[in-house]
Amino acid sequence: MPHPSSCPPGLLALLAPWLALAAHLSLSSQAGDRRAVPVEKPPGVKGRTLILLDVNPKSPVRITSENFLSLQLDPSIIHDGWLDFLSSRRLVTLARGLAPAFLRFAGKRTDFLQFQNLKNPAKSRGGPGPDYYLKNYEDDIVRSDIALDKQKGCKIAQHPDIMLELQREKAAQMHLVLLKEQFSNTYSNLTLTARSLDKLYNFADCSGLHLIFALNALRRNPNNAWNSSNALSLLKYSASKKYNISWELGNEPNNYRTLTGRTVNGSQLGKDYIQLKSLLQLIRTYARASLYGPNIGRPRKNVIALLEGFMKVAGRTVDAVTWQQ
Ligand SMILES: *[C@@H]1O[C@H](CO)[C@@H](O)[C@H](O)[C@H]1NC(C)=O
Ligand SMILES: *[C@@H]1O[C@H](CO)[C@@H](O)[C@H](O)[C@H]1NC(C)=O
Ligand SMILES: *[C@@H]1O[C@H](CO)[C@@H](O)[C@H](O)[C@H]1NC(C)=O
Ligand SMILES: *[C@@H]1O[C@H](CO)[C@@H](O)[C@H](O)[C@H]1NC(C)=O
Repeated sequence: MPHPSSCPPGLLALLAPWLALAAHLSLSSQAGDRRAVPVEKPPGVKGRTLILLDVNPKSPVRITSENFLSLQLDPSIIHDGWLDFLSSRRLVTLARGLAPAFLRFAGKRTDFLQFQNLKNPAKSRGGPGPDYYLKNYEDDIVRSDIALDKQKGCKIAQHPDIMLELQREKAAQMHLVLLKEQFSNTYSNLTLTARSLDKLYNFADCSGLHLIFALNALRRNPNNAWNSSNALSLLKYSASKKYNISWELGNEPNNYRTLTGRTVNGSQLGKDYIQLKSLLQLIRTYARASLYGPNIGRPRKNVIALLEGFMKVAGRTVDAVTWQQ
């Protein structure tokens, strides 16, 4: 792996590439206020200097976004109906403690994701998934006592213990499958159904997190321009549901050569972002939605060239320039 940002699948990884403004601290500018005070050396310690800082919290230099610390969910959780667990009361309760924050739905599998607007897609192979158990325990679904849940129409379930056990078992198995993909560097396509998107949005919205959805940037026409047809179908569906989502296109585009053997340069990606921006503007719900990019890996060497090419073409198209650490 050329880059360590591929977090363990299914984990909520702390991530704050956005709005990394300076911290609140303001050092007093008067030189006389900073003093270096020699400290008596305890035995065995070579030498220490105590620095006194005057911190003036009343006049911040910069203020960070309240979403400064945010989180990311990898699309690999679509496997085997895992999204069902996002309706868990326990999880939603814990996630509420992290709000306000962004929930970025993105990762290596972003560019293997396809949207399918089917009401009842064929059940996946391999025995009953969590969905099956959920259906059989519908009586256990707690009609929420929290006013917010009702107001937002939150679907929250009190999963029975058997489901949590199943969850643990399957997590272990799934982890192996995902690791295998990662080691062999061959990823299977993932299908996101309309229902899965509903579940994802329900989790974000009910937890007070703002969803950032990264669209697949590797669907390309023979001339290497982005093919937006699948993204458009997703955008139309989520607009029909009035989902408040911010958007990205692709994940770590500097990595595409190692992932799929094809490359997308900065200016091409810039054009693709402009195409996405005009799609968003055509859809009333998203006419003013935020668009973030280019989600490159650490900006150095050839990655900087990609960033520069992108910025020349699409610098004014994005609401925040993003990279990953
Ligand atoms: C995944 O989908 C893309 C785009 O539709 C297609 O070109 C590719 O062959 C698919 N990969 C696999 C492994 O099915
Ligand atoms: C874009 O993709 C769609 C669906 O895969 C396909 O029908 C369409 O022909 C493609 N567009 C171009 C310009 O190749
Ligand atoms: C969508 O979410 C953003 C970020 O939380 C918020 O600022 C904005 O007001 C929301 N838009 C609508 C139409 O609710
Ligand atoms: C970027 O890629 C596009 C499409 O593959 C190509 O037409 C263009 O010449 C490339 N630009 C640069 C600067 O390499």
